[in-house]
Order: sequence, then C-alpha cells, then structure tokens
Amino acid sequence: MPLPEPHDIQRLILRGYRERPVTSYLLMRVTDAAAARTWIGRLAEATAEANRLADEDARQLDAHLARAPALIGTAHPAWRREDNDRVRGLRLMLAFTHRGLERLGLPAQVLETFIPEFRQGMTAPHRSRVLGDVGSEAPENWRWGSDDSPVDMLCAVFAGSHGELESTRLDATLGLRGAGLEVFERIGARLSFTEPFGFADGLSQPRIEGAGTARVAPMTRWDNSLPAGEFLLGHRNAYEQLPVSPYALQEPPGPGVLPRVPGQRDRWDFGRNGSFIAMRQLSQDVEGFRRFTEGQARRDLGDRAGGASEQTLRDAEERVGARMVGRWRSGTPLELAPEWDDPTHRTENDFAYAKEDREGARCPIGAHVRRSNPRDSRTDEAIGVTPEVAMERVNHHRILRRSRVYPAKPGEDGETGIVFLAYNTNLERQFEFVQQSWSPNAHVDALPDARDPMLPGAEGADNTMTVQRQTLATRMRGLSEFVKMRGGAYFFMPGLRALAHLAGIS
Ligand code: HEM
Repeated sequence: MPLPEPHDIQRLILRGYRERPVTSYLLMRVTDAAAARTWIGRLAEATAEANRLADEDARQLDAHLARAPALIGTAHPAWRREDNDRVRGLRLMLAFTHRGLERLGLPAQVLETFIPEFRQGMTAPHRSRVLGDVGSEAPENWRWGSDDSPVDMLCAVFAGSHGELESTRLDATLGLRGAGLEVFERIGARLSFTEPFGFADGLSQPRIEGAGTARVAPMTRWDNSLPAGEFLLGHRNAYEQLPVSPYALQEPPGPGVLPRVPGQRDRWDFGRNGSFIAMRQLSQDVEGFRRFTEGQARRDLGDRAGGASEQTLRDAEERVGARMVGRWRSGTPLELAPEWDDPTHRTENDFAYAKEDREGARCPIGAHVRRSNPRDSRTDEAIGVTPEVAMERVNHHRILRRSRVYPAKPGEDGETGIVFLAYNTNLERQFEFVQQSWSPNAHVDALPDARDPMLPGAEGADNTMTVQRQTLATRMRGLSEFVKMRGGAYFFMPGLRALAHLAGIS
C-alpha cells in the first residue's frame, strides 16, 4: 500500500535529489525564536500551497514552483515530474536538535516525549562511548556539534548549480537576514557516485515499503524491503508496532494542525512522518589510504625489494582496498567476484553470505559492508537460525543513508570526506547499534583486535583486520586512521504539518 500522506514527508528521506547535485549544509543557531519561527512558517506555507495545487490544479503548480525561490521538497507524487524538468529553485530539508526545538519554544511537555537518545544528543558522555567518539575522536576535538559549538538547526540546501549556493546569494534567496538564525558553519558538498577513497557509494539501501521508489529488480537472495516505520514515525515498524513518537497533550491551535495519535483521544502526534537523523562529518585521508593499500599490497606480494611490475602491484592494491570495503571500486560485491573485479555486477545488491561464504573466504567478515549489514551471515541452522531468521534479525538494525561528498568542487580545499546522514526512527536500535555492535566491535564473530577499516579509529589503537582466505587467513595492520570525525549531531526532521505547528507556536 502506498504511503498515505506523501505531502507531509520531507522528500530527502525518500528520494536523494539527484537532479540537484550541489549542496550546502547550513548549521545554525537560533538567535531570535519568534523571527526564526516566522522564517520556518513562510517556507512551510509556500510548500503547503504547492502541495494543495498539486492536488487541485497542476498548471498552477508549475507556475508556483517556477516562482518560489526555495521550497521544502515533499514526496507528493505530483512533484516527481520536477526530477525530469529543467531544475528550478532550491529545495531544502529542515531538521532540529533537541536544543534547537527548545530554543524555538516547543513546550517542555512535547520535548519530554522524544526518545532519550535524541534528548541527550550524540555527545552525551555515554553515547560518545557507544559510538567510539573517544580519545582523538572525542567531541571536544570536533569542529562543530560539541558543547563548545552546539547546533540548533540544519538547513540542507539542494541546488542545480554552484552559483546558487554562493553564500551572499544564497542568504538573499533564503531571506536569512533578520530571520533570527545565525549560520555558524557551511559545508559545501556534492552528489558523487564515488566516495573520496574512490569506491562506488550509496548502492545498498533499504527499500521502504509503500514509498514507490524501487526501480530495482526484485531480490532473490535476501529481503531488502522494510516497513515504513523503520524510517518514518507514525507508521508500523519491523516489530509491527508504531515507533515511539513525540506528542502534544493539548490540541494545537493554528495552521499546523497535528493529527491525533492513533487510538489516543488526547494526544496529538508531533512526530508523524518525521524521522531522526544521525549526521556525521567524516574527513578522509585519501593519500594515507593510498599509501596503506600500496604498502599492504607489497606485503601481500612479498615484494620487499620493490621488484613487482606496476600492473601486478596495482592489481594487488585494488584487492586490498576491495577487501577493506567488501566491494571493488566499481561497486561489484566481493561476494560475487572475490578475486577480480567484474564490472557487470557493479550495481548489484542481490547477494547474501550464509550459503557460500560463511567463513568469509570471498568477502572478509570484517569488511565495511559486511559489518554494516551482515545480511544472513549469522545463520546457525543447528540452533534454528535459518538464513531467513538471521536476515529478519539484521533487518531490525538498518539505516537509510543520504550522504554527499565534500568539498563542493573536487580539490577545492585541502580536506575531503563525506557528510553522512543516516535516517532511522530508533537511533539506539538502528544507527547506534550498527556503529557500536557491528562496526567497531573488536570481537565481532571472534575477530581479534579488529574494527571497521572505514570508520574513525582512536589514535594509537592497534587497528588490524583479518582477511579470511580458503587456505590461510592473513592480517592487515595499522588500519583505521584514515577517517576522522569533524562534527556530528542527532537531528529530528519533522513532517510538514509538524513544521507548520512549530512555526505557529506563540
Ligand atoms: C568515511 C566514512 C565511510 C565511507 C568511506 C564509507 C563507504 C562505503 C562504501 C564504499 C559502501 C559500499 C557501497 C554501498 O553499498 O553503498 C558503504 C556501504 C555501507 N556503509 Fe559506509 N562508509 C563510511 C561510513 C559509514 C558509517 C559511519 C556507517 C554507519 C555506521 C556506514 C554504513 C554503511 C552501510 C549500512 C552500508 C551498506 C551495507 C550493505 O547494505 O551492504 N558507513 N559504505
């Protein structure tokens, strides 16, 4: 069944704005709550008008879209044809930290009903431990998001050209002057099908049931479809329950009338059609990664004297990188092509591990994609865990990624990396679980001293990775300092009605 209220959903979660490849992430603090609410309200109103026209008058919708310099994109089906049109206007995604919602004036009663992870924030000491944000990666060393540099609001802007995002022009287009918002950090980024180390990214995403976004072929080896409630509040999740959603105890007046919480007479749903975002700005040491793969390739070849031919060395280097990621640079899964890249499989996502690769001889158990989504790896028929059961368990810990690469233009400044956005409705069970239990876990499937080679590693840690082979397992040492935390926060991305409600608070 299609999602019942597409017009209420901020579009980014369902579709990645491919037609608007240039991005600016504006990190903001509220300086004047009333002015900021007015600014949010204007955007919400213009967007609601577009939704209304989409329902009633398609020709007028086109005129409205052409006139509006910036709108919050929604998943309304009528907006889809925009994707193929000449790109016009900016599209925004607005999201708030708990602190931001408080500063905007959301009543304490509503604030208290948010899940604890979001209330406490990404940098609460025990959450830092869970996420591995310790030592050199601790929040006090971040550029933004720590207590010294808190963030209230994220405005992600998607554009067709770089010129539109030039800061003076952008601020004028968005009407930010006098809007009661201070932009304290701008991260320019771009859509890229490869991440900075050179690997195809964004290939494996869960399919949200009812979202109608799947142009992909049906899966035969695993089930990649998940109930909408894993990613959108107000919908049934993988436990066939409604996820915990923030609510108001008083019927809100004004334009942003919230829906009732199903089955509850005195609760109004602030969370419906919203989602939580784990945002992490991760810088990548591309040269360090290249040096490591070359050094490891020479070790694998036993080439101390440097006598291997250029081609042999390059091939071995590619193999090292592929084993760290679990896919070749082209995107081809190691599971389908363990020794040599076979680009005919480059966008393939229909693969699982239990049947042919329990021991990790094709794709190492510690490779990034296998750690982040073990699929049916944990099958154990002896205790009744069939591949289907293993898969179902893993599907309780999925995230939907919407990452972009920074800087906005390749080679623009010294640093490069990804702005990682993971959507989920239960930060603890989904994003934090992946980051705590699978990615950095030294003991995942009895791998000694290992952690995810693609995630930040505290300096000085003995970061190794075991590469299982048919004959003899080998170990890579000195990994994991190629990725560094630059900033992060947990955000709540409200539905359109909740945004209008927030704007209408007085
Ligand atoms: C700089 C840091 C990172 C890099 C370079 C990176 C790179 C990649 C690449 C190349 C893929 C394979 C292509 C694909 O399936 O989309 C991938 C997949 C994935 N990554 Fe990352 N990633 C990074 C950080 C993270 C983080 C922080 C998480 C979450 C904790 C994460 C979770 C995932 C997941 C869930 C998949 C899909 C696995 C699957 O379903 O097979 N990644 N990543």
